[in-house]
Amino acid sequence: MEKKDHVFDFQHDFELESGEKLPGFRLHYTTVGTLNAARSNVVWVCHALTGSSDFTSWWNELFTSGSAFDPGEFFIISANMLGGCYGSTGPLSVNPGTQTPYYHNFPLITTRDSVRAFDLLRQSLNLQEVHTLIGGSLGGQQVLEWAILQPQVFRAIVPIACNAKHSPWGIAWNEAQRMAIEADATWNEDRPDAGLDGLRAARAIGMISYRHYDTYGATQKETGNDKHDDFRASSYQRYQGQKLANRFNAFTYYALSKTMDSHNVGRGRSSAERALALIRAKTLVVSIASDILFPPSEQEFLGQHIPGARVVTIDSIYGHDGFLVEFNTLNRLIKQFNNNELSLAS
Ligand code: COA
Repeated sequence: MEKKDHVFDFQHDFELESGEKLPGFRLHYTTVGTLNAARSNVVWVCHALTGSSDFTSWWNELFTSGSAFDPGEFFIISANMLGGCYGSTGPLSVNPGTQTPYYHNFPLITTRDSVRAFDLLRQSLNLQEVHTLIGGSLGGQQVLEWAILQPQVFRAIVPIACNAKHSPWGIAWNEAQRMAIEADATWNEDRPDAGLDGLRAARAIGMISYRHYDTYGATQKETGNDKHDDFRASSYQRYQGQKLANRFNAFTYYALSKTMDSHNVGRGRSSAERALALIRAKTLVVSIASDILFPPSEQEFLGQHIPGARVVTIDSIYGHDGFLVEFNTLNRLIKQFNNNELSLAS
């Protein structure tokens, strides 16, 4: 099924939760499949911290023929979030007010800001109903925020490995990563590759939180007992840092980690419990047993407060990264949920 790329330009001031304004913005978005006549087959995918709107590049297994969201049946859409670096307005974009890139002056985008921007795109496409809204991690945080903001739009939501409010623990991991970027001597410079060494280190720190003691034990184990240096786990950390530096920038990483920290569905709504109670969509909350960054207790909380929500836990050694790796289990769980709770015809 053909993948198509598009842009949405919002040409008015966009007021942010912080009180700052973006003088308009662009969202880059990707679609696969065809919108049916009833416009009832939309699946909207929210990507995670370093993801892009091209969900086929990082979650393809959920969107192939015969999978949970077969593109022969569904119209699948995902937009790169504000602050991102895959075609949407972000820190490397030119600020129309100054005619120079935002860099360090890019404003704080909260999860609520990012889904308000998505919602403007949804309205511009005249999508009154979304069959399923799905995302993991930061994408899952957006799923929750959006389902609270526009409860009548979503028939089903699948928030994976996420929480109602980012935890002190999660903020601490993000702060450590921002400190790594700030420690890079080039970080204060105004150029796209400023802070890139810091980004490598930040990613290496982040990887530990995305995985688990058992993930490293299973995948980076040494075969003999002779080594005293140059361990596989070390080269893995460095490889992952470099791999991200090849496709990302420190400004976006810094900005989107702040977006994650800002996430709190209870802000301005008296409490997280009351906010979650506003959700009307059928809800499948997915947890990963070994997730140390967004531990299962956070998804249990979601299950307790989203009306009628079902919580399922995936038994995996992959920790938080399980949401990107355990696609066979995810496919099975989502198919089951769709069969039990929803069908395109109903
Ligand atoms: N030394 C150097 N490189 C190594 C290595 C080692 N000891 N062990 C593995 N690698 C390389 C692999 O060859 C592979 O390279 P490639 O990506 O160029 O093909 C890469 O590391 C990934 O291997 P691994 O992490 O073991 O794969 P996986 O299937 O377990 O996990 C991902 C895949 C994409 C989930 C994971 O690599 C990743 O990027 N995780 C972070 C994703 C993320 O952002 N999560 C949080 C969102 S908030």
